[in-house]
Amino acid sequence: MVNGARKVAVIGAGNVGATCAFVLAERKVGEVVLLDIFEGFAKGKALDMSQGGRVLNYDGRVTGTKDYADIAESDVVVVTSGFPRQPGMTREDLIGKNADIITQVGNGIKEHAPDSVVVMVTNPLDLMTYHMQKITGFHHGRIVGQAGILDSARMTHFIAEAVGCSNEDVQAMVLGGHGDTMVPLPNYTTVNGIPVRQLLPEEEIKSICERTAGGGGEIVKLLERGSAFYAPGSAAAIMAESILDGRRRVLPCSAYLTGQYGMEDIYIGVPVVLDSNGVDRILELELEDSELESLQQSGAFYKEQLSSILGY
Ligand code: NAI
Ligand code: 2OP
Repeated sequence: MVNGARKVAVIGAGNVGATCAFVLAERKVGEVVLLDIFEGFAKGKALDMSQGGRVLNYDGRVTGTKDYADIAESDVVVVTSGFPRQPGMTREDLIGKNADIITQVGNGIKEHAPDSVVVMVTNPLDLMTYHMQKITGFHHGRIVGQAGILDSARMTHFIAEAVGCSNEDVQAMVLGGHGDTMVPLPNYTTVNGIPVRQLLPEEEIKSICERTAGGGGEIVKLLERGSAFYAPGSAAAIMAESILDGRRRVLPCSAYLTGQYGMEDIYIGVPVVLDSNGVDRILELELEDSELESLQQSGAFYKEQLSSILGY
């Protein structure tokens, strides 16, 4: 690595990982290393992306590897390695297989990139984020999960379509676990500052919230093999970039709770301030009783899975 240059490692060169690496290269964040158990897969995609640099005018190096020594000195490690779901599967059906992969990857990160901030993507997201923290032993704030940016972007897109306006003017907020229990918050959703409830009828907002919660499943069904990757890979890249830049962006992410929202010892989607060390702080929104109850039910669901399936 060039002295002072920034470095991001992306573990898993599949659909989400490759998309994330490509977005990072295109946004010129620094050196990008793509690691996969299939070395040729990582190397081939990295070479393809490097050649694309001439076309899209980015110079940053993208390299492929299967060797964890190559992720040394990474500022951020994005973890996308693991099985995606197939039609008929929930994200939670992936727990066993993906937990073993995260154990292996976590040990590699702990040994070779001990000062990095880890952005988790592998599903079931909130559980794998918790598991990664246990494996690495990193400070809780240095392990953070990507889900809320994607889920909020889905809600944003559906609202923009319904209102007939640009995506860019919609701000939506989705908290909770990255699964059927996620909690879209119309009370914190606006169109350039205008509360969404002034623009759309209640039934339409309700059906947008339901479509958002099933947003990943809708794409799995359409694709018939694998799951979404353009929006997820881009969302992970934006988190990595925010951390590298230390911009202190406020983003919904899976973060470790220590009493906030009445929950503790769990990773779940909440608004956080992201800085160069990861989660700097968790913002506590004022929620209606029913919203808080839904968020706590989401937390209780994942807490039960942590204990009954992963033994935590
Ligand atoms: P994919 O199958 O295209 O890619 C997964 C890659 O991981 C493969 O290239 C595979 O060789 C690699 N891999 C497997 N075991 C590994 C190991 N031990 N070390 C290094 N690499 C390993 O899957 P895709 O579509 O990229 O999804 C990846 C994960 O991200 C899945 O678990 C999926 O459910 C999750 N996901 C999470 C989202 C979120 O919002 N948090 C959104 C979309 C997907
Ligand atoms: C998604 O929400 C499957 O978690 C993935 O698209």
